[in-house]
Amino acid sequence: MKPNDRNDTPVILEKDAKAWWKEGVLYQIYPQSFKDTTGDGFGDFQGVIQKLDYLESLGITMVWMNPFFGSPLVDNGYDVSNYTAIHPRYGTMEDFQEMLDGLHCRGIKFVLDVVVNHSSNEHPWFQQSRSSRDNPYRDYYHWWPAENGTPPFRDSIFDPEGAWQFDQQTNAYYLHYFAKEQPDLNWENPKVRQEIYAIMKFWAEKGVDGFRMDAFQYASKDTTFPEWPKGHEKEYDKWYGMRPQLHDYLKEMYTEVIEPYDLFAVAEGAGTSFKDAHDLVDADRNELQVAYHFDCRDISKDLEGYQLSEFKAVFTKWDAAFKNNGWLAIYLSNHDVARLIDRYGNTDAAFRTPSAQMLNTFLLSMRGTPYTYYGDELGMTNIDMPKIEEYVDVSAIGDYNRAKAEGEDMDQFMKKLNFNSRENARTPMQWDSTKNGGFTEGKPWRKVNDNHQTINVVAQNKDPKSILNHFRKMVKLRKDNPVLVYGQYQILQERHSEIYAYTRTLDQQQVLVLLNFSKKQATITLEETIKTGTLWINNYDRLDAKEGQITLQPYQAIICELIN
Ligand code: NOJ
Repeated sequence: MKPNDRNDTPVILEKDAKAWWKEGVLYQIYPQSFKDTTGDGFGDFQGVIQKLDYLESLGITMVWMNPFFGSPLVDNGYDVSNYTAIHPRYGTMEDFQEMLDGLHCRGIKFVLDVVVNHSSNEHPWFQQSRSSRDNPYRDYYHWWPAENGTPPFRDSIFDPEGAWQFDQQTNAYYLHYFAKEQPDLNWENPKVRQEIYAIMKFWAEKGVDGFRMDAFQYASKDTTFPEWPKGHEKEYDKWYGMRPQLHDYLKEMYTEVIEPYDLFAVAEGAGTSFKDAHDLVDADRNELQVAYHFDCRDISKDLEGYQLSEFKAVFTKWDAAFKNNGWLAIYLSNHDVARLIDRYGNTDAAFRTPSAQMLNTFLLSMRGTPYTYYGDELGMTNIDMPKIEEYVDVSAIGDYNRAKAEGEDMDQFMKKLNFNSRENARTPMQWDSTKNGGFTEGKPWRKVNDNHQTINVVAQNKDPKSILNHFRKMVKLRKDNPVLVYGQYQILQERHSEIYAYTRTLDQQQVLVLLNFSKKQATITLEETIKTGTLWINNYDRLDAKEGQITLQPYQAIICELIN
C-alpha cells in the first residue's frame, strides 16, 4: 500500500501517560558489525563492553540489539535454533550479563529482538515436527499433506519458489514466509505460545527491559489456507497476517510476560491501516506499547530519489492518527534498508555533514521514540557492491533469483540492488582511520567502507562541528526538553518544496523546527504571528533571518523557541 492511500479515520482516544520508553532515545546495534575483540572478524559482546563509554557519551538511553542466539545464520540470526543460548560468535552468557550490567550502570535499557513468527529449520522443535506426522511437535508448524494436492499459492518474502516447501520425510509441505530455513511457527497451538512466553521470561529474568517483536503481524494467519485471488501477494501484509486472533495472543503475552515483568514491547510492522496500528499499541488495550510502520522506507527506494512532499505526508498523517493515544517509533534506517544518508540526504563531500545533521535533527525532534541505527550518528554511507557474487544476504540473493526468473533487466536490477540492499547497512562500524576502521584485528566478515579514513569516531570526536557532536547535542536537547518528547506536532507550509517546517507545543512552550532538505539555499516566510526567540540548535555558524524571512543554507537545520 502506498502511504497516501491510507484514508481510514484515525481512532482518537484520550490518554496522556508519560513513560520511560516515550522519553527514550534508542540506538540499534547490529552486533556482528559493531566491534570485534577476538580477531575472528565478527563483532561480539566484549566489543560492545569496550564501547560502553562511547554509548554513554552519545546520551542514548536504550539499545536494541539484533539477534545473537543459537542459529545456523542463514538470515544472520533471524533463524533461531536455540532461543536461550548465545551464538559462540558473540561470546558467552557471562559476557551477555556483563554487557547488560554495563548498560544498566550507565542508565541504558536493553531491548531484545524476539524472532518468533518462525524458528530455524534446525531448531529441535522443527526437527521433531518433520520427523513423523504423529510426532507431538507436528503442530508446532504449519503442514500441508501432499495427498491433498499442491497447496494454495503463498508467496515468500525471500524465496522466489514460494512459501511452501516440500519435505520428503513425511510427504508434506511446510510453510515459510521468509527463507525455507525459517519455518513459520503455529501460534494457534497453545503449547507453542507457552514455549515462547517461557523464552521471554527467561530473558526477562536476566534483566532485559523490552522486546522487539520480529515480523510479528504474521504470527496469526488464516490456517484454513483458502485459495486467494491472483496478485494478492502485492498486498502482502493485508493477506498474510494481522488476523483478529493476533490480539488474543498479544493480550495473553501481556498478561504472562509484559505486565508481570514491567517490560515494554515494540512491534515490527503496524498492519495496513491506522486502526490496525492502534489495535496493536493503544494504552487501554494491554497488548504492545510501540509500533513502527514501513511507510517512510517505502518512499525511498528509487534511484531517482524521493519526494519531500511524500516524506512530509507520511510523518504528518501518522502523527495525526496517533495524536491522542498510542505511540510510534520514529526511524529512517535500520539493518533492513540502505543507509540513511544515501536515501534521504546527500553523500557529496560538500553536503554529507549538513545533510546527516539535518536528518538527525529531524529524528530527534519528532513526536515518537527516535531510533538511530549504529553509524548514522557519523553519517556512515552505503558501500559499492556491483556484483551479485559479493552478496551474502538471503534477501538479496532471493530477489536476484526472482528477478532473473521473471526476465527483468539485470543491469538495472543490480543498480537498484546496489543502492537498496540491506548489505549497505551492515558494514563494520567505523571507529578510526586505521586498517579495518578499528573494527577488527582480523579479516572483517564484510569489507569496511573505504571512507572510514575520513568518516570515523576518532576524527569526529575531535571536531566540535562533526555529525557525531551534533547528534550528541540533539540527544541532550531532546532529553532536557519535554516539549520535544510530548509536545504536539503541527506542520507549517506543507507545500514548501525544500523546507520541512513544524512546531512542537507543550503547555505554554512552543518550538519551531526548520529543516532544509535541499542542496540549495531556501527561504521561508513565516506568518506574522510567529515570533522567533532563542536559537536552540543550528548546524551552521550563520542564520540569515530578517523581517519574518528565514533563508536556510543547503541542509541547514535549526530549532528555536517561539515567543508567545
Ligand atoms: C525482519 C527482520 O528485521 C529482518 O532482518 C529479517 O530478515 C526478517 N524479519 C525475518 O526474520
